[in-house]
Amino acid sequence: MSPDTSLPAARRTDADWWRDAVFYQVYIRSFADGNGDGVGDLAGIRARLPHLVALGIDALWITPFYPSPMADHGYDVADPRDVEPVFGDLAGFDALLAEAHALGIRVTVDLVPNHTSDRHAWFQAALAAGPSSPERARYLFRDGRGPDGAEPPNNWPSVFGGPAWSRVDDGQWYLHIFAPEQPDLDFTNPEVLADLEATLRFWLDRGVDGFRVDVAHGMAKPAGLPDMQPMEDTGLLADHGPGDHRFDDDGVHDVHRRIRAVLDEYPGTMAVGEVWVSQDERLALYLRPDELQLAFNFKLLTAEWDVDELRDAVVHSLATVAGTPAPACWVLSNHDRPRHVTRYGGGEVGTRRARAAALLQLALPGAAYLYNGDELGMPDVDLPDEVLQDPIWERSGRTERGRDACRVPVPWSGSEAAYGFSSRAETWLPMPEGWEPLTAEAQAADAGSVLSLYRTALQLRRTSPVFAGEGLEWVPAPDGCLAFRRPGGLVCLLNLSGAAVPLPEGRVLLASADTGDGVLPHDAAVWLHA
Ligand code: GLC
Repeated sequence: MSPDTSLPAARRTDADWWRDAVFYQVYIRSFADGNGDGVGDLAGIRARLPHLVALGIDALWITPFYPSPMADHGYDVADPRDVEPVFGDLAGFDALLAEAHALGIRVTVDLVPNHTSDRHAWFQAALAAGPSSPERARYLFRDGRGPDGAEPPNNWPSVFGGPAWSRVDDGQWYLHIFAPEQPDLDFTNPEVLADLEATLRFWLDRGVDGFRVDVAHGMAKPAGLPDMQPMEDTGLLADHGPGDHRFDDDGVHDVHRRIRAVLDEYPGTMAVGEVWVSQDERLALYLRPDELQLAFNFKLLTAEWDVDELRDAVVHSLATVAGTPAPACWVLSNHDRPRHVTRYGGGEVGTRRARAAALLQLALPGAAYLYNGDELGMPDVDLPDEVLQDPIWERSGRTERGRDACRVPVPWSGSEAAYGFSSRAETWLPMPEGWEPLTAEAQAADAGSVLSLYRTALQLRRTSPVFAGEGLEWVPAPDGCLAFRRPGGLVCLLNLSGAAVPLPEGRVLLASADTGDGVLPHDAAVWLHA
């Protein structure tokens, strides 16, 4: 049955709820700490559900909370079917799920198929079993090159810096596209696929509504693991185009078909992929009817505050999904990138632009992902060297600071650290002074705050018929501006022209800045019903 895309979110069916849902990414270490150890956890999420209800989101994506030695803060999974004690336990997860569902919030969790932790029982067994064993065949162990095998098997770099290969005591090498503590699995091994399926079913049987698939373009590697084309930037966020054999191998689609086949047994569940593939046609392949329901649109996440770049991001994202059953899926920030307040210039300017960007993101047809703290206008934080924890910092020889700046805990209330995030002042990443005005508590009491803007925007998006329809029509706008119209009658105008522009025809529904004089200021956006 083809989905009815003419309905606003509240009237969607249970099967395709995700098509225009607003998802909220909880970076679990940084959202809310329920047990006072300075690290966020499942109990913290439960305690903050009222905030999420008042905000008006539809679903959560919770980043990995599985047992992990935390070499990459949970993306190194030692057991994908249990809960890391730092974050809680399975009973706590079940309670969170039940409470969220009772409040009308769906819950999706992270799936990390590409690699395990080096402490996963499988990897430990592989080390013990030695070359040519079935235990090693779950990973990508190879002999080295050169006379005594002392050279890595190929030239692939790790996206965290250094070679993508590490050598073990008996002389073999294993592949890790990420940190050495994150060995890549071999998806040509049926046992590996079967185990992924067991993980999917484990969480689906508990009642989760879907998954965010980590490195969803990574699981398959070309036969023979040939050298890749040398590239200047091969890092986490680089544009992995053709010639980068670490990613987007055609074999990856078999894995997605297998994931989808399982999801189809659980109606109303979905998966969104983290697919860093920049060519529209290549990205569209992941959205075929028997693959992912959604793929993040990273073009908006990587666009500068520039009208042509923003328009291009929208055009390419819509072109990507045009021939697929998928809607677009918009992201402004996540736990891997500088926050958009900071990307757009920081300070008062960055906040003004972020407010406008929020109205752009939430007016576009499709699903939207908010990153925890977006709704507070959180900026990145300049952290001193000694507190940095991201593996990128050490692996790059301390030349790249990594992603900690965008992972600082969320401020909830009060006037000093830890601002209600934790009962103790020392948090896993320190919180700066002066964040009282940024707290949810302070912003909830201020009709002009970023939080109030998000609440109103999400309420309108959920209830107003002007958001109906998945199409978008560009409408004429002054130079330096973008304007489009949705089939239901929503017009969104974004002004980067350097000066105020007249408001178009229509009734103003919401604006990111004062439109009192019949004009939209520079660096602002407005929603109208026309
Ligand atoms: C994804 C995650 C990132 C993690 C990496 C390895 O890119 O978003 O945080 O480091 O995968 O799992």
